[in-house]
Amino acid sequence: MENRKKGRVMSGIRSTGFLHLGNYFGAIRNYVRMQEEYDCFFMVADIHSLTTHPDTKELKPNVHRVLAENIACGLDPEKVALYCQSHIYETAELYLYLNMLAYKGELEKTTTFKDKVRQHPENVNAGLLTYPVLQAADILLHQASYVPVGKDQEQHLEMCRNFANRFNHRYGEVFPEPYAFNFGEDLVKVPGLDGSGKMSKSENQNATIFLADEDEVIRKKVMKAKTDAGPSEPNMPMPDYIENIFNLMKLVSTPDVLAKFQHDYNQAIIRYGDMKKQLADDMVAFIAPIREKSEAIRNNESYLRNIMEMGAEKARKSARLTMEKVRTVMGLKYY
Ligand code: TRP
Repeated sequence: MENRKKGRVMSGIRSTGFLHLGNYFGAIRNYVRMQEEYDCFFMVADIHSLTTHPDTKELKPNVHRVLAENIACGLDPEKVALYCQSHIYETAELYLYLNMLAYKGELEKTTTFKDKVRQHPENVNAGLLTYPVLQAADILLHQASYVPVGKDQEQHLEMCRNFANRFNHRYGEVFPEPYAFNFGEDLVKVPGLDGSGKMSKSENQNATIFLADEDEVIRKKVMKAKTDAGPSEPNMPMPDYIENIFNLMKLVSTPDVLAKFQHDYNQAIIRYGDMKKQLADDMVAFIAPIREKSEAIRNNESYLRNIMEMGAEKARKSARLTMEKVRTVMGLKYY
């Protein structure tokens, strides 16, 4: 990829679960903007999924869906390296070397590890413990400096910087320090439809709009969003669950639609039924084209195969260059 770009971006996309509106506004939209200005590597983290999902039956449809959804949202496989983690064998090699620089104590202290231990005490495997090491290998393999991720990944990135620095000190400068990075303003939080928390795949499914949801499902979910009898007098403070509906409207509706309902709220003449119907219409208009495009891609196996091959080729090229340097500075060259 060209050098005129501003720097290297790398991120991993989980292959478990369906993408939802929160993923779209929180992550994918960011990737789509970055692809114009940065040299981007976006990877489906299929190996990582084995730490918690050892059954591989669902892997293929999941990987296909995640690729299709990301492309449908605007990620361009011509502009970025879009690839699967398991296709890049160099990842496993770097992961192995980094494991010697990762300490049991720091791995056990990781918040995500402790959470998983609590949730699945019957499957505390070494892959789970070294999850952040594998993630560091993903990033460092491309000598990336920018990693578009949410807050929940901060600790993993800090560990990645530690591994990179330890490597550089022990063997020689190879890796830049990668930092969390997002485009422009603060990331938008996408609230759920049940008045509490944000959209997430693990929490209340009815509060979350998935990119694969059919029109009727979207309408039903939106119409069920929590409201009340409405403000009893003008300019009353807004309860959280009503503010959430306005915030969702900000994402998918036009500014004048939003302004009309804000006006109605402030005048205490708002009709929440009308507002939700409008939001449902706008949500359907937003999601339907993405869903349809994604379905078409998902059903086109030869296209998906081409995309994966093209992405893997780009990623391998960069991985090989890095691993050459790594083996050299480590002294793993005997002739
Ligand atoms: N751990 C990340 C998540 O749970 C996914 C991931 C895997 C990742 N490898 C990565 C993110 C490399 C950024 C960079 O969402």
